[in-house]
Amino acid sequence: MSAAINRASDFCARFGLRVPILLAPMAGASAPSLSVAVAKAGGLGACGVLLMQPAEITAWANEVRSGSNGAFQLNIWIPDPPPLRDPAHEARVRAFLGQWGPPVPPEAGDATPPRFSEQLEAMLAAGPPIVSSVMGLYPPDFVARLKQRRIAWFANISTVAEARAAEEAGADVIVAQGAEAGGHRGCFDAAAAERQMVGLFSLLPAVADAVKLPVVATGGIADARGVAAALALGASAAQIGTGFLRCPEAKIAPAWADALARTAPEETMVSRAFSGRAGRSIATDYVRAATGPDAPTPAPYPVQRGLSAAMRGAGTRAGDVHRMQVWAGQSAALARAEPAGDLVRAFWEGARALLA
Ligand SMILES: Cc1cc2nc3c(=O)[nH]c(=O)nc-3n(C[C@H](O)[C@H](O)[C@H](O)COP(=O)(O)O)c2cc1C
Repeated sequence: MSAAINRASDFCARFGLRVPILLAPMAGASAPSLSVAVAKAGGLGACGVLLMQPAEITAWANEVRSGSNGAFQLNIWIPDPPPLRDPAHEARVRAFLGQWGPPVPPEAGDATPPRFSEQLEAMLAAGPPIVSSVMGLYPPDFVARLKQRRIAWFANISTVAEARAAEEAGADVIVAQGAEAGGHRGCFDAAAAERQMVGLFSLLPAVADAVKLPVVATGGIADARGVAAALALGASAAQIGTGFLRCPEAKIAPAWADALARTAPEETMVSRAFSGRAGRSIATDYVRAATGPDAPTPAPYPVQRGLSAAMRGAGTRAGDVHRMQVWAGQSAALARAEPAGDLVRAFWEGARALLA
């Protein structure tokens, strides 16, 4: 197993880390305090900037840098073309959502995300050591600008074909996301997200064999056993999302954090019920109903996100997980309510002992 440890050591040396543990970028759940704690313990912090305006991206980077050594990645979704709107269908979705939360006005579906081009500029200006992509690849001109600034590009993929395409496009590291992962699936082709559900045990060795780049494993890793298994299967580092969400520094809603602890692997599911794009959450009453035979198909991304906002907001205010957006990976129940730095150390010391 020294080959696995050596691979991890090389990765750490290249990216200035003491341990090969990465916090997963989690849009809406990227508290600066969590990244500070992970980076201080020798791992890599992360921010999912999807929903953030440029000034918020700048402020996040400044805060994490001032509290740590500045080891973090900034992550963004590659946008899809604008969705096709269908007012009659949206009316059915609004009526359905109105049974779960406040009435949904027609204009709720018009909510527009921050401008991608402005977010990219803010990411570059923040000067992070690493920028990552998900749901697709950066255009060549942006890749060139990353390389000019010596910013490494970590490309999230969920299939072997996507890994090859990312290598070809100039990525520095491949982040292989298994179907166990919490949150949105990072498939380049949104339509294929449910069909191409590859678990990490199959994806990781296949990707490690297919590309020459270092591979980071993510999806369902939430303890030392998972970290050791990922390294044994060919990864250079492990990236953990749900496993950090119960840490006090994550600052997520208490009802969500508590629910993670009670969620068995089979009690999560992938649906489009929150945003219109496939993502794994706890199989709440709302998600089960929204995917049932009588429910209207969710509107496309990001329309569904706007339509479901009122219900999600009301659910969060009431502490009702059944109406909240409770993203969760299949290993949610392994997440521990302990300081993130302690978890980072335990993940790596435990994995090293298993691999020795
Ligand atoms: C709340 C939440 C938000 C997420 N947001 C993003 C995101 O903005 N960008 C991204 O690349 N991945 C996102 N992900 C996926 C994670 O980066 C990672 O793939 C996943 O957490 C790994 O699975 P795990 O949760 O079982 O550790 C998100 C995951 C969660 C749980």
